[in-house]
Amino acid sequence: MKDASPTTVYLKDYEPFGYLVEDVHLTFRLAPNATRVLSRIRFAPNPATKTRDFFLNGENVTLISAKIDGAGVAPEITADGLRLEDAPDAPFTFEAEVEIDPAENTALEGLYMSNGMYCTQCEAEGFRKITYYPDRPDVMATFTVRIEGDLPVMLSNGNPAASGEGWAEWHDPWPKPSYLFALVAGELVAHEDRFTTASGRAVDLNLWVRPGDEHKCAFGMEALKKSMRWDEEVYGREYDLDVFNIVAVDDFNMGAMENKGLNIFNSAAVLASPETSTDANFERIEAIIAHEYFHNWTGNRITCRDWFQLCLKEGLTVFRDSQFTADMRSAPVKRISDVIDLRARQFPEDQGPLAHPVRPESFQEINNFYTATVYEKGAEVIGMLKRLVGDEAYAKALDLHFERHDGQACTIEDWLRVFEDATGRDMSQFKRWYSQAGTPRLSVADSYENGTYTLTFRQHTPPTPGQDQKAPQVLPIAVGLLGQNGEEIVPTTLLEMSEAEQSFDFPNMAQRPVPSILRGFSAPVVLEQCWDAERTAFLLAHDTDPFNRWDAGRQLARESLVAQITEGAAPDASYLDGIATLVSDEALDPAFRALMLSGPTQSEIAQILHERRHTPDPDAIFTSAEALGDAKAARLEHLLPAIKDATEIRAPYSPDADQAGKRALWSAALSLETRLDGGAAATAAFESADNMTIQLAALTCLVRAGADEDALAAFEAQWKDDRLVMDKWFAMQIAATAPENALPRARHLTEHPAFDLKNPNRFRAVIGAFAMNHAGFHRADGEGYDFLAGWLITLDAKNPQTAARMCAPFQSWTRYDADRRASMKAALERIAATPDLSRDMSEMVSRLLA
Ligand code: ARG
Ligand code: ZN
Repeated sequence: MKDASPTTVYLKDYEPFGYLVEDVHLTFRLAPNATRVLSRIRFAPNPATKTRDFFLNGENVTLISAKIDGAGVAPEITADGLRLEDAPDAPFTFEAEVEIDPAENTALEGLYMSNGMYCTQCEAEGFRKITYYPDRPDVMATFTVRIEGDLPVMLSNGNPAASGEGWAEWHDPWPKPSYLFALVAGELVAHEDRFTTASGRAVDLNLWVRPGDEHKCAFGMEALKKSMRWDEEVYGREYDLDVFNIVAVDDFNMGAMENKGLNIFNSAAVLASPETSTDANFERIEAIIAHEYFHNWTGNRITCRDWFQLCLKEGLTVFRDSQFTADMRSAPVKRISDVIDLRARQFPEDQGPLAHPVRPESFQEINNFYTATVYEKGAEVIGMLKRLVGDEAYAKALDLHFERHDGQACTIEDWLRVFEDATGRDMSQFKRWYSQAGTPRLSVADSYENGTYTLTFRQHTPPTPGQDQKAPQVLPIAVGLLGQNGEEIVPTTLLEMSEAEQSFDFPNMAQRPVPSILRGFSAPVVLEQCWDAERTAFLLAHDTDPFNRWDAGRQLARESLVAQITEGAAPDASYLDGIATLVSDEALDPAFRALMLSGPTQSEIAQILHERRHTPDPDAIFTSAEALGDAKAARLEHLLPAIKDATEIRAPYSPDADQAGKRALWSAALSLETRLDGGAAATAAFESADNMTIQLAALTCLVRAGADEDALAAFEAQWKDDRLVMDKWFAMQIAATAPENALPRARHLTEHPAFDLKNPNRFRAVIGAFAMNHAGFHRADGEGYDFLAGWLITLDAKNPQTAARMCAPFQSWTRYDADRRASMKAALERIAATPDLSRDMSEMVSRLLA
């Protein structure tokens, strides 16, 4: 389709709004089915533009009355807003009263209800479902909010201004766009604390939860305080209000939201206790609390001019939260985990029909662009910037950014200009990272002559939808050289590549070195080295760079699987030997050793096979991965008791990185042991576990072993009243079961009384987990595809945003054999043909089918 549909929005069409908003007064009269919202907004002509089109966005709101400067007006009302033809060309006050229906709002966007509690989600364009407003991020205003209702707790942004019986008022002194507006009202209790900023401001901290969840707050609160301190110490950023509120909400489309002074969290992203949360949950919660808190400066004080600039706040804030986690925990382990995630979620996106630049140039529904590309690749781009200019220049540039742009709505051009001005460097070529989609492929060849060692790189980015030709990008390539005995002869050096092909010389080398390339994953590319099993095993044994050492193991495992599948080879002995040496090396961090034991995902293997012109067979991939797992268990059998002993997990539980690493290694050993004993050790571990990390790890082993019936029942009986734990129960038994059980199980669990279509966490725990069972989803009969499509159609009618996000499993559909391709295409076409499909879903499906 060349012709853009009429609802496509383009970056190139940006125009400022014709009016400035000076301030906003809102009154909410809360009622589940008929909430009244009264607004009083002061507008003034915007001197930066001559267009004076007074159009206010508004959706699903019923206008009761409107006034300009106190006199009633009758604006023209359309499905997406309100227009006044003769708005004054001078400052004026606009007032409106509207009615909305939060109880019927199943899309969870705008004002909605979750278990009797009122809450909001306005990013990106949800405020227009609350009242008529110029709902765009470049319109910034101060808000005063009055909430009327008979609920014990009623919160909004900023500082509390006044309150009485049945009402509360809030005032936010910092001008903000409407997407940062928030309101919460309900029966809530606070876990309270206090923080004093570097310059002495006392801040009240509250974590609001439903009664009964009080014991799950302490960890989140500590994470918040650590984040506040860290942002002062590392970025010089202080908090700017007297109170910081966080609220946990059960029904939430995303992880969390950075509303000014009132962050709203999916309860899964903030509530934690040792009995109910895994180590991975604790780490994720700490990171999300940090992420939302860091948005106060990168997002709120400095926001985005328009939604195409989303990566300006998200890429930078993800980068900042990764730095924070690296500082709080282990930097190498965090880096490896981030790359695992990038390769699993962003690479498939960048290499398939949904590929889009970090800064997209058009969209139909912006909610579809809260993607791994914008977030995670966006963060990688910041990491490269920092690597290229160096830490000091990065700090200088960030200071300039905060100083120059505080209070503004900015663009990527503004952001890059700050780096140009702070460092004197020309950023025009680097900017391609924001405009070109696709993962660059970097190939490398080497030579050694007369004592000079030469590395020659070639970069090439395959075409992506709408972008046939790609220009070379700036690639920071971190390289180290090792001697033949494994000693480091050239420490990590940053090579800066900017051409399509480029060579780098290392003179005066007495011997031909072994290169360690792309250390720390210094650029988000696919590295194509001529496969050299011996060199890879050498790097696995000797590389001083933890990322590359880990990646060498991954490559050996990957090549083993490919050879097993395509040549009927046996699991690679050099890989198994290398792993055996590493996992028993007590000098290494247990968390790192646990990562060494994990293999590539089945989906990753499918992608590699596809690239090498083999049609991936999901069942063969599953069988080979099992064979490799069994071989690993057999090879490590004699080491497992020692590994488990040395990682003594009986100490009183603490979620710190040290203990978590030990539990990760212990659990990895348990999972190998289960391949040998059929589940005896896992059953014992399950029965004696006193924390969720071990309990769930043991249960996962039993599910994989097919010995899960009693344990699943016991787990359910124990945890049936805890929603977040039950989400794990649903998800894990579907994702980890044998492929042939996945669909029957998922079907069966959709009939479980606790399956709830309207709760995004639960829906993802069942339907989303099913798509994660690679061979189960890709069943040869195509029924897995039909199952997913059917549920996405059902959900779309209620919650388009969550439904559309869950189309991702279809993005690799062209990789598979003709039958599977036909079934996936038919499933997508079935979705496309559904009457009244949401804009979210129809955009996703049309991109997938394009
Ligand atoms: N800004 C939120 C964050 O910190 C996410 C909001 C997502 N909103 C959406 N409509 N998808 O990541
Ligand atoms: Zn964010």
